[in-house]
Amino acid sequence: MECTLIGAPLQIGAGQLGCEMGPSALRIAGLRTALEELGHEVKDTGNISPRAFDEMAHPNAAVHHLGETVAWIEALSAAAYEHSKAGMPIFLGGDHAISAGTVPGLARRAAERGRPLFVLWLDAHTDFHSLETTVSGNLHGTPVAYYTGQPGFDGYFPPLANPVPAENVCMIGIRSVDPAERAAIGRTGITVHDMRVIDEHGVGVLVRNFIERVRAAGGLLHVSFDVDFLEPDIAPAVGTTVPGGATFREAHLIMEMLHDSGLVTSLDIVELNPFLDERGKTAKLLVDLVSSLMGKRVMDRPTLAG
Ligand code: ARG
Ligand code: MN
Ligand code: MN
Ligand code: MN
Repeated sequence: MECTLIGAPLQIGAGQLGCEMGPSALRIAGLRTALEELGHEVKDTGNISPRAFDEMAHPNAAVHHLGETVAWIEALSAAAYEHSKAGMPIFLGGDHAISAGTVPGLARRAAERGRPLFVLWLDAHTDFHSLETTVSGNLHGTPVAYYTGQPGFDGYFPPLANPVPAENVCMIGIRSVDPAERAAIGRTGITVHDMRVIDEHGVGVLVRNFIERVRAAGGLLHVSFDVDFLEPDIAPAVGTTVPGGATFREAHLIMEMLHDSGLVTSLDIVELNPFLDERGKTAKLLVDLVSSLMGKRVMDRPTLAG
């Protein structure tokens, strides 16, 4: 497959600086070589940079870096649309606010193809605040509310041509939700699998059910992978660690199942903060997980019955 790497060194959406170094760390950890060794053709387009911007104030005084974020959203949405023309775009974040750009750009491409876009959101957080409800003001907490077309962005974030229907979004790994997010998301058709659901059913069943839904609808599947989805012990390089995350084996299983589905058409890797890493271990783990998503496996295995 043709893979396109797009660096998105956005960091002001997070509460701590450092995600700007995310694309570099993923490159240094050997992402390109890992994909080439799997037989993929890799093109690295370098890093995106936004246009010049003016800062904007918002009635919610907590909101910060709004103008800068909007400039990034515009640049990323255009890049996502452009690079989804052929092959598989892989966006190297950057904090999770990049998805407020990548997802709308991909949704525009999907609409043009007459295919519905689905999103698998692997995260400890729902990122379902509006500009009005965010308490931290960190805009990495808002992308899902925005790209599904919830109120609370008008006049600030760019108007959305192709909102992703809430029913097409599935979240796995959730374990930190603010009260306003919890109330808002409950009014939507978003599937939210918190850790309780994982423990009770196992990630395999959850992923298989979602894959079957995407397949039945003839959908394109975007995967948005937040580093804090993972257990902090194995992935310390993120500013928003939450205990009790996905294990090494759960994360690889999800990636392998997604690969076998053949449905994934784009990927975000977000929130990697190399300033908080331990000798590159989180970056290396992410390269390994992307490898699993892109076809790395232990054995050639015949499909098991059932
Ligand atoms: N809900 C919290 C907030 O709005 C945490 C958001 C964390 N988001 C993330 N992409 N890591 O500040
Ligand atoms: Mn997130
Ligand atoms: Mn998160
Ligand atoms: Mn935050």
